Amino acid sequence: MTFEWCEYPDREHMYAALVEVVGTGLRDILRDAQAAGLVASGGTTPRPLYQRLSGADLDWSRVRVTLTDERWVGPDDAASNERMLRQDLLSGPAQAARFIPIYESTDTPEGAEASCGKRLSAMPWPSSLCLLGMGRDGHCASLFPEAAALDDALDPGFDGYCKAVRPVTAEVAGPYARMTLTLAALLRTRHIYLLLAGGEKRDTFRRAQQGSDKREMPVRAVLLQQQVPVSVYWAP
Ligand code: 6PG
Repeated sequence: MTFEWCEYPDREHMYAALVEVVGTGLRDILRDAQAAGLVASGGTTPRPLYQRLSGADLDWSRVRVTLTDERWVGPDDAASNERMLRQDLLSGPAQAARFIPIYESTDTPEGAEASCGKRLSAMPWPSSLCLLGMGRDGHCASLFPEAAALDDALDPGFDGYCKAVRPVTAEVAGPYARMTLTLAALLRTRHIYLLLAGGEKRDTFRRAQQGSDKREMPVRAVLLQQQVPVSVYWAP
């Protein structure tokens, strides 16, 4: 596993560093390309980062933003990653960014795979940065351990941007069907920033480093690949 480990004395320092590295990364992309992409993690860890990044000085009108995954709930639902991102990132200057939603009002995520994939094809993939989170069970995005969809969702050669996922247990995932970006999609970005905070996530990460079974801990699929540079950001 080759990745950059970036450790900070506290979360404030980590978020400040990430605002700088992601803001600079997007500005660098926009110097040479018409559009830049940001693939943003759901969950709670990145929220302070998004609140700070929303004010970054860059041409947000040329940035396209999507999510690494979504709980299959409407955008007004408290559990919605889209709702969180619109509150925390897509406000202030970043409101000018074009958001590409994962969720659409079909009964199941399975029924939306084709249309969601079509929407995601509008992301400037090789000119995109990815912010990824990890759960205490070693999932990332909505790539949950032992889920039936992992055969395709973890296949680096899979020809699809997204996949519906039914987590095996609700213990970490909550009671939601999910739509996730596939590993193949995540590996189409230019750089992956994996955000971890707290001792439990550090212990989970160390457990992930000690094995190779990707179905057991899907974050291993990101750590074991050699296509895209991975920087792991951690603070207590
Ligand atoms: C989600 C996320 C998920 C998240 C991890 C960590 O929909 O929950 O996309 O993959 O990144 O579960 O979540 P926390 O940051 O809340 O611990």
